Amino acid sequence: MKALVLAGGSGTRLRPITHTSAKQLVPVANKPVLFYGLEAIADAGIHELGLVVGDTQAEIESAVGDGSAFGLQVTYLRQEAPLGLAHGVLIARDYLGDDDFVMYLGDNFIVGGIDGIVRKFARERPAAQIMLTRVGDPRQFGVAELDPRGRVVSLEEKPVRPKSDLALVGVYLFSPAVHEAVSELKPSWRGELEITDAIQWLIEAGLPVESSVISGYWKDTGNVTDMLEVNRLVLEALEPRVSGSVDAASELVGRVVVEPGAVVERSRVVGPAIIGAGARIQDGYVGPFTSIGSGCVVVNAEIEYSIVLPRASIRGVGRIERSLIGHDVEVTPAAGAPRAHRLVLGDHSKVQIRS
Ligand code: G1P
Repeated sequence: MKALVLAGGSGTRLRPITHTSAKQLVPVANKPVLFYGLEAIADAGIHELGLVVGDTQAEIESAVGDGSAFGLQVTYLRQEAPLGLAHGVLIARDYLGDDDFVMYLGDNFIVGGIDGIVRKFARERPAAQIMLTRVGDPRQFGVAELDPRGRVVSLEEKPVRPKSDLALVGVYLFSPAVHEAVSELKPSWRGELEITDAIQWLIEAGLPVESSVISGYWKDTGNVTDMLEVNRLVLEALEPRVSGSVDAASELVGRVVVEPGAVVERSRVVGPAIIGAGARIQDGYVGPFTSIGSGCVVVNAEIEYSIVLPRASIRGVGRIERSLIGHDVEVTPAAGAPRAHRLVLGDHSKVQIRS
């Protein structure tokens, strides 16, 4: 069995963060979301991985390398344009050969790994096996309709009027039967070859398609609330560890990780929270469910329930909550009168000011 991980795509939903970074590398508890997927694949006993990449290939390659750090043997497969998930399967045809494979979308986060579903697939060997989860707004997903016995009756990509609240999770298991389905596809209304349509093709061809419903799932719907929530979830399981330095005037409460080279001075950190390598927290407060990226600076400021990406600096600005702050961002007070907000915001930024 092989794995096919799709890490192309442009990440428009997570702008402005994805203007400068591949969406699969957005960090959850200071680790790229893609890495959780790679670990889950290796944990399921799969070691050969085709990694489909697009414009952000260089960035992804420098993060993943040859995969040996994950116990994987990675082959990069270049997708010239984001023409859909099924197009990813199409270009991987030679790499996959006639092996079964798990297809994993690099921007998806699944709690509890894929070991169970991989074993179930190996036992039953249907043409395809999908995972479903209940979501608030199914219109942003592929949606499944099940019969009363739980069998998949139909699938529809981003329906205007969803037939259920069961969304397709971005992990699929396929037998080589999927290649014929993919080769028959026509582009959808959004100009993409949809894997949802390929699975619908298998159903219509009378081939067995199995499903299971899971909970504990996240994807980049562009919803910062969801991202903060998945960050919270992962931080909950943090093993406390202090590899950086914490002075005597500081206090760490609960599950806190201080990475190597990080410095905490005259500050209070209440876990679960992670302070990235080389970060500096001075005269500050870092509250629960916060991930501070490597090289960040938090001086004379308070931050809680937030994600701060590497090298951002937050100084003298009181309290920040429920925020996602990008790489190299500076948040500082505006000096002098009049007491106005001064903003330099990239395209697609979102700011909420308490006035
Ligand atoms: C894709 C699939 C969709 C699935 C989703 C899960 O959507 O087309 O069926 O529910 O991944 O992440 P996309 O990310 O292309 O919008």
